[in-house]
Amino acid sequence: MFGDMPGPGIMGMISGLSRGSLIMGMFLLVNGMVMNVEAHNYKAHNYGAALSASILFFEGQRSGKLPPNQRMKWRNDSALQDGSDAGVDLVGGYYDAGDNVKFNFPMAFTTTMLAWGVLEFGEYMDAELEHALEAIKWGTDYFLKATSTPGVVFAQVGDPNSDHACWERPEDMDTPRTTFQVNETNPGSEVSGEIAAALAASSMVFLECDPKYSALLLKRAITVFEFANTYRGTYNESLGGAVCPFYCDYNGYEFMKGSTLNSSLAIPAADSLVCSLLPESPTRTVQYSPGGLLYKPGGSNFQHGTALSFLLVVYARYLHQTNSFVNCSGVVATPYRLVQLAQRQVDYILGTNPMKMSYMVGDAMKFPKKIHHRGSSLPRIAIHPQHIGCGEGYYLYFTSNNSNPNRVTGAVVGGPDLDDTYVDSRDNFAEAEPTTYINAPLVGLLAYFKHLTSFEMYWT
Ligand SMILES: *[C@@H]1O[C@H](CO)[C@@H](O)[C@H](O)[C@H]1NC(C)=O
Ligand SMILES: *[C@@H]1O[C@H](CO)[C@@H](O)[C@H](O)[C@H]1NC(C)=O
Ligand SMILES: *[C@@H]1O[C@H](CO)[C@@H](O)[C@H](O)[C@H]1NC(C)=O
Ligand SMILES: *[C@@H]1O[C@H](CO)[C@@H](O)[C@H](O)[C@H]1NC(C)=O
Ligand SMILES: *[C@@H]1O[C@H](CO)[C@@H](O)[C@H](O)[C@H]1NC(C)=O
Ligand SMILES: *[C@@H]1O[C@H](CO)[C@@H](O)[C@H](O)[C@H]1NC(C)=O
Repeated sequence: MFGDMPGPGIMGMISGLSRGSLIMGMFLLVNGMVMNVEAHNYKAHNYGAALSASILFFEGQRSGKLPPNQRMKWRNDSALQDGSDAGVDLVGGYYDAGDNVKFNFPMAFTTTMLAWGVLEFGEYMDAELEHALEAIKWGTDYFLKATSTPGVVFAQVGDPNSDHACWERPEDMDTPRTTFQVNETNPGSEVSGEIAAALAASSMVFLECDPKYSALLLKRAITVFEFANTYRGTYNESLGGAVCPFYCDYNGYEFMKGSTLNSSLAIPAADSLVCSLLPESPTRTVQYSPGGLLYKPGGSNFQHGTALSFLLVVYARYLHQTNSFVNCSGVVATPYRLVQLAQRQVDYILGTNPMKMSYMVGDAMKFPKKIHHRGSSLPRIAIHPQHIGCGEGYYLYFTSNNSNPNRVTGAVVGGPDLDDTYVDSRDNFAEAEPTTYINAPLVGLLAYFKHLTSFEMYWT
């Protein structure tokens, strides 16, 4: 059987960031100021085009009724009955990756990171800002539905085992669309807390452009957070095999009172994170490939590069503002160094790597052609309206040697191995599958680097 089961590294990242989101909320408050910085005048990549594509990708992952302004035209409506088994409307939201399950835990992380990216770097997005807001709203509209019953949070739609055992277009899928909920007797503090974070961060995004929607999101965020905090427990236990091993809560959850969110707590934690990443740091815990790729074991590796690079840039801006640096047991890192490492990871994705290929699906000379993505690899409804069943999809299209017929523009795959090699093959899901949580932090990063290269400004 083939599947999309991501390894422990992914889950660690996501559940770690459930807590991270709270810490970072504090950074947002202290870091409201605009800063113009320039890493170096290296212009190898078209960050603007990559930014547009990175947001367009989310249209390929849309579940539900597609709007008239849908730009990724090969997709069609799907999963229009989601929620009906529980008597609720759960139509909408995002498929997490190359399958057709709506996993709300990573979807909440994705939405939180998109929102945070807009809060930090939205002013550099120009015409793409509107599309970024649409991508966030596609998530929050769904989360409003998933949290509309007090005391209940819907955690997932779709039976992951039967879904993964089939190779079907989202538009065709006929596997059980089971809904999974956490509630007062069977709680899930991590999934509820992350959804609360997504709603809260998004309420900040819409504060000025849509105050009514922003207020609705904030109100719901508070209710959902109170539910997560009052009824404590892990969805691992409440939902068992339906959610874990797919997206386990590896790190648990932690609730911090507002008063503890101060610099005495956050600064050492952020410094220690930076020191765990820098190649020259004595306390480094991540690995680097010979080509410069940040690597952690477990599949879908680029999720680490994008999420951690995002944190590096945000923290570098904070350090620069406060005229400080990070001291890794005697090895001093300036804010410039943090930005440089982040840019190295982004450039690696876009083509500065030993395979000399872009790991983002798009217009590059060389990019992944057989990504592990059901919708991309099966013919579109418009040219093949007949239903393609579970096994038929597998034998005719999954095992085919042809390139995928539909381009999920902007999709970034899991990425190469620790030796920088990449195998462009549909059955190589650890490397060849795109995910929403790889792209979400990348959106803000690309806006930032687009801005850097369009202004000639330097660190002093
Ligand atoms: C609470 O959630 C559990 C786990 O999803 C579920 O089995 C149970 O039916 C739910 N309780 C109610 C009253 O719906
Ligand atoms: C959830 O399950 C995973 C896998 O068994 C385990 O590693 C993790 O510690 C569990 N998380 C919690 C919070 O119990
Ligand atoms: C910051 O948090 C620490 C640890 O909880 C606490 O001891 C300290 O008093 C707080 N400082 C401020 C200025 O709130
Ligand atoms: C960095 O920390 C080391 C102790 O680990 C200390 O000896 C050194 O003076 C510090 N460097 C700076 C520039 O603060
Ligand atoms: C859905 O499919 C129909 C029939 O092929 C097509 O005309 C239409 O444009 C599709 N809708 C979207 C949103 O792509
Ligand atoms: C795909 O390519 C492999 C290796 O070149 C070959 O062995 C296999 O028969 C091909 N499969 C099909 C369906 O053409």
